[in-house]
Amino acid sequence: METIQEQEQEQSTAMPRIGDEAPKFKAVTTQGDINFLDDYAGKWVILFSHPADFTPVCTSEFITFAHLENKFEKANCKLVGLSIDGLYSHIAWLRTIKEKIEFNGMKNVEVKFPLIEDITMEVAKKYGMVQPNESKTQAVRAVFFIDPNGIVRAIIYYPLSLGRNFDEIYRALLAMQTADAFDVATPADWNPGDDVIVSPAGSCGVAEERMTSTDELDCKDWFFCTKKLDKDEVLSTILKK
Ligand code: BEZ
Repeated sequence: METIQEQEQEQSTAMPRIGDEAPKFKAVTTQGDINFLDDYAGKWVILFSHPADFTPVCTSEFITFAHLENKFEKANCKLVGLSIDGLYSHIAWLRTIKEKIEFNGMKNVEVKFPLIEDITMEVAKKYGMVQPNESKTQAVRAVFFIDPNGIVRAIIYYPLSLGRNFDEIYRALLAMQTADAFDVATPADWNPGDDVIVSPAGSCGVAEERMTSTDELDCKDWFFCTKKLDKDEVLSTILKK
């Protein structure tokens, strides 16, 4: 039998996994109240947590993410942030970022996406953003990619001390959208314009065909075939005009 403490610990570290429906919740944010996920029907959403307002790594991340917001918008993706701080702290921090902080040549950056106040840790616990052996009071740097059907498609976690790579977050989003649109997979370090992977042969006959045909496929071996996918075709399919 689990003790109450063990049950509480388990609940606070439970998290949705890849392929699960993303948990829904209502929250107060710097852009007003939101009804997550109903407000985002038909869109990709990146829900991400950071440890605390008025901290340097988080500040560098918010400036970078806010700077890229239009790129994510073009990819039909909304950004939603969260930390275990109150609304007035969020507002004061975002005002300070805009008025005073320059990072990597980016300045006067206005954070227009919603930042959830989660002082009760209700949402952070629902999404397994509190990892007690890292911090019992702050969320780690979690990134949940949620698709237009409300399904969790990818999750990335970083510790408190490590600022995220937002180019990788954008690359991962485009790669998943490309996989969906063209029914392909994407190899290591893929970027639009690079060759994509076609699904492995599912029978001996197809394996033989792959190795002998001279069509559009480039097969390194029967299980590892790639094909060209034009960058413009990818971008014109997945990005808004
Ligand atoms: C930061 O954002 O700078 C930070 C937050 C929590 C722990 C360590 C660093």
